[in-house]
Parts: sequence; C-alpha cells; structure tokens
Amino acid sequence: MPVGKIRSESQTLAEHRLNYPALANKAYFNYGGQGTLSRGSLEEIQTAYQLVQAEGPFSMRMLNWITQELQRTRECFASELGGDPTSYAITHNATEGCNIVFWGIDWKPGDHLIITDSEHPGVHAAAEQVAKRQQLKLSMVPTAQNQADESILERISSTIDERTKLVAISHVLWNTGRTLPVAEIQSLCRKANVRLLIDGAQSAGVIPLDLAELDVDYFAFPGHKWMCGPEGIGALYIRPSLIDELQPTFVGWRGSMLGEEDKHTAAKFEVATSPFPLLCGLRSAIDLHQRWGTAAERYDQLLENVRTLREALSSIEGVSLVIDHQRAPSGLVSFSLIGKSHSQALKTLERERVLLRSIPTPDCLRASIHYLTDKTEIDRLVSCLKAVLAE
Ligand SMILES: Cc1ncc(COP(=O)(O)O)c(C=O)c1O
Repeated sequence: MPVGKIRSESQTLAEHRLNYPALANKAYFNYGGQGTLSRGSLEEIQTAYQLVQAEGPFSMRMLNWITQELQRTRECFASELGGDPTSYAITHNATEGCNIVFWGIDWKPGDHLIITDSEHPGVHAAAEQVAKRQQLKLSMVPTAQNQADESILERISSTIDERTKLVAISHVLWNTGRTLPVAEIQSLCRKANVRLLIDGAQSAGVIPLDLAELDVDYFAFPGHKWMCGPEGIGALYIRPSLIDELQPTFVGWRGSMLGEEDKHTAAKFEVATSPFPLLCGLRSAIDLHQRWGTAAERYDQLLENVRTLREALSSIEGVSLVIDHQRAPSGLVSFSLIGKSHSQALKTLERERVLLRSIPTPDCLRASIHYLTDKTEIDRLVSCLKAVLAE
C-alpha cells in the first residue's frame, strides 16, 4: 500500500507524532541512540507498575503475570520480525544478546572469530574479551566507507578458515550507517558451516525483516532504539535448530526452571529478575508503529525522509556525506562539516534543541532519520548546520 494512502486513510504523520511528548519541543535525530517513548508506552508502564504493587509485588498471581507478559512480548517481537516466538530470548539490550552468543559457543583454543572493523565499541570489546579468555584468533574485516558489497563478501569469504566458528557483523554499521548484505553473508557462512551473529541494533525497527525467511543464525537487538520502547528490553533471535547447540553462560531461575515443553526454546537464555513492567511499554511502542503502517510502509516513509535530508545536505557547501549511495539505505545519515569541530557543532545544535550525535571514527556527525521524522525537523537541522558553517 503506498504511504500516501495510509496517511489519508488514518492519521497524518503530524497527528501521529503527537503521541510522542519528546517530539513536541525539539528536532530529534538520535533514534540510533535511544528512541522516544509514546504517551501510550509511558501509561502502560505506569499501569503495570501499579498492578504489581496492587497485587503483590511478589505473589503467585504476579509470577503468572510475569510468565504471561514475557510470552506476549516474544509474540510481539515475532509479529514484527518474523519467526516463532520460541526463537526469542528476552534480553535487556543488543550487547547482552551478542554476549550470549559469544560466550555460548563451544570454543576450543585456536578457534577463529571474525568481526568487522566497524563493530560498536561495546560489541567489539566483548569479542576481544572472549578471544582473550578462550585463546581465539580474532580477525577484523575492513568495511571502508564506499567499498562494494561484493568486496566485503569476498573479504569475509577469504578470511574464513577451517577453525572459524563464528562471524559477527552489524546489519547496519553504527558509524557510517552502511547496511551490510546480511542475506548473502548468511548464505556464505552457511555454506562454510560457520555461524553468523548479526547485531541488529541499527536495523531492527528500520529495515523490514523476516528473520525466519532470511534463515539467520543469531540476531541481537534492543527495543529502546528504533522501536521506541523503554530502555531495558531487547531480544536475541536464535534459529530454532541452533537453540540446543548454544550453551547458556549466565544461568538463573528463569532459564533453568522452564517446563519440559519450553526447555528447548530460546527462553533458556533468560536469567532472573528484570524490570518486567517495561515489557508492557515495549509492546505498546511496537503496537503503535504497527497501527501507523506495516514495516514496509514505515521503511518507505523513512527512505523518503532520508532522501530529503541527503538532498538538502548535498546542496550545502561545506557538508560532506560519508557514504555516497547504498543498495538498502538505513536510517543513519553520517556527514562531516569540513573544517569544523563536530563536538563544538553539536553543542551549538543542542542549544537550538536540535539533537544528533558525533562519531569518532570516521570523524563525523550522525543523524538518525525515523519514519517519525518530519520535514520541519529536517529544515531546522539544515538551517542550524548552515549557521554553524557560517560561524
Ligand atoms: C550497532 C550497535 N550495536 C550495539 C549497540 C549497543 O546497544 P545496546 O545498548 O542495546 O546494547 C549500539 C548502540 O548504540 C549499536 O549502534
């Protein structure tokens, strides 16, 4: 269904944005760091905390409620990203999901782990730590900014050797916003009998995905970025046939006390007490996106917004876009201001309530463009950038 049709049949984007209090008084470009909570999510969280206090908080009834909320949340993730709810382990963030995989593989000294040179610092640190502790060889595949997909595939393929057990890559690189060809990478890893971990922190809630159809091995993601859920809920998707193979490293009552029928589900990686009322806020966030449009419709709108910003930036002298063009654009638009300090520019922008972030390598600014982003925000960013460049 074309985007225009959704808007005229239901809500305009301007009306829809009123659901998000954070969007009322600023131009927000940090969804890749943390998304904005809707009024509905905030209310659901508060209502859930009130229920917990009214009923317990520690009681048989609340234990049943927790079990039910976790199950409903796995179902909600499956409705957004495909696959079976039993393939989703509820985590707290993307890094936790990556760590479950890094530490859950049956490594032997001398085995080989491959990552890229553009992994998020936290995930990179986790890979280094597991390599150190398990005496692994760690290789880093370069992902130069405008390198062709074929060249990245070729580098991964030629780096895989007979000791390689895992390749770990971001779906969308956090620094440049480049999207990696995950379907092709998954297929080459499968052929080489190597597992693939995809860090979906910058793609979940952006790029339409069916993880079961893509047949990915592991996909870790947070709920608090592009999905606009509260911080503290994420998930790890595990291909059903790999659930028994991967071993839990942290173990607690949630994973170990599962009934016989659930012992072979991804829930075995869940550990213990968590802020369960947040699950209601996350589901409310996803439900609101789904009511506005399908994943494909939301992505179309996001692409239109990305095009608008890229065109505007291309016409400003002194702005240089980090990547020229890509086959499957993400919501991240990275660019540099020639001859200017990006940290200084950020401060000026923030004073004008235009929020984005800087990236250390490559030295640039990064704007997260959501389907929720509107033209007035983009205009505000562009005019503030012109003012910074004119200083
Ligand atoms: C690609 C990537 N991976 C991981 C992370 C860390 O996310 P989380 O805090 O959900 O673990 C980020 C966060 O910015 C990211 O961009």
